[in-house]
Amino acid sequence: MKTGAHTGTRSAIKPPAKSAPAAASVTSSATASAVASFTACIADELRAVDRVFSDELASDLACVNTLVKHVSRFRGKMLRPVLLLLSGKACGRLTDAHTTLAAVVEMVHMATLVHDDVLDEAELRRKGATINHLRGNEAAVLLGDYLISHSYHLCSSLQDQSAARAIGRTTNRVCEGELLQIDNRNNLDLSEETYLEIISRKTASLCATCCELGARFAGAPEARVGLLELYGLSVGIAFQIQDDILDIVGEEGTVGKTLGSDVEKGKMTLPMIHFLRTAPAEHRALLRSLMTSGDADKAERIRNLILPSGSIEYARDRARQFVDRARGALHTLPDTEGRRVLDAMAEFVVSRPM
Ligand code: IPE
Ligand code: IPE
Ligand code: MG
Ligand code: MG
Repeated sequence: MKTGAHTGTRSAIKPPAKSAPAAASVTSSATASAVASFTACIADELRAVDRVFSDELASDLACVNTLVKHVSRFRGKMLRPVLLLLSGKACGRLTDAHTTLAAVVEMVHMATLVHDDVLDEAELRRKGATINHLRGNEAAVLLGDYLISHSYHLCSSLQDQSAARAIGRTTNRVCEGELLQIDNRNNLDLSEETYLEIISRKTASLCATCCELGARFAGAPEARVGLLELYGLSVGIAFQIQDDILDIVGEEGTVGKTLGSDVEKGKMTLPMIHFLRTAPAEHRALLRSLMTSGDADKAERIRNLILPSGSIEYARDRARQFVDRARGALHTLPDTEGRRVLDAMAEFVVSRPM
């Protein structure tokens, strides 16, 4: 079912074919068509984002361009640029600053992914080999640094310095979230509250900033900027809960990245937290012993233990509550295409294919 570090099938992952187009879609067909329906109204802007992205990262060194080309070859869902652009559209007119900022947030996101794959020892990302798998941890750490450094460089090209402050504040929070997560590694007593704090910082804070900046640079009044920020934060939390569900029950072939690494890395996520709160004593004891064991098949065994328990449904319900909060934040906005698509996107984050 799964490939990747935890099953030791390294050879299953092949570097992408040399002839692949510059930015192929690697999402599943259902995801791709959902994303396409969200992006139809911002297609021109997304093409401009692509150009800014490539121009910013181009180096005079071939060795740098080779690594950048590898990570740029496959685009993911472009969720963060899309959130930023749609928030702008829902609040007014899009400007060149929106295009720049959309490239900035995708660069920040890609830096976190490249580093995250080192931390998780992941081999598969966007249906291709990770940089750490292909070129080793040192190259991946440095490429992540290169991406984050360029995101600040690009952001500082804007006249208005408030965006640079917002991006800096957000990357601080992302790092804090990752550090809090590491601090709670193998903490089987992790509370739901601390879990939500971790994911709010490491994932949702960037989504919140995307929506905040999109709205602010479209000239929205502060109260409306705040609502878009709440929308982004809520969507981001729901998105990470769903991602954590997929890490347990998803198929690598569909999701396109190494799964099972939360269990492998001792990261407690919502289904496990709920299970340890509610399952019969002997089941709880089994999960605790599996989490601390070095068994090669522990991800599989934990999956089989949790699947029939109702804890996945609990996590789904919690994600849905955050989707509802996100959609609620849009209520007072004028009825525009931007708002309608944001509303549909909130739904999509909890229903994306397994
Ligand atoms: C993956 O984000 C990292 C998480 C925050 C869970 P995405 O699922 O948005 O990754 P791409 O950009 O589509 O590959
Ligand atoms: C990573 O979380 C979140 C980031 C901020 C990068 P995950 O470790 O769950 O992300 P995936 O599942 O590898 O994409
Ligand atoms: Mg990961
Ligand atoms: Mg994950």
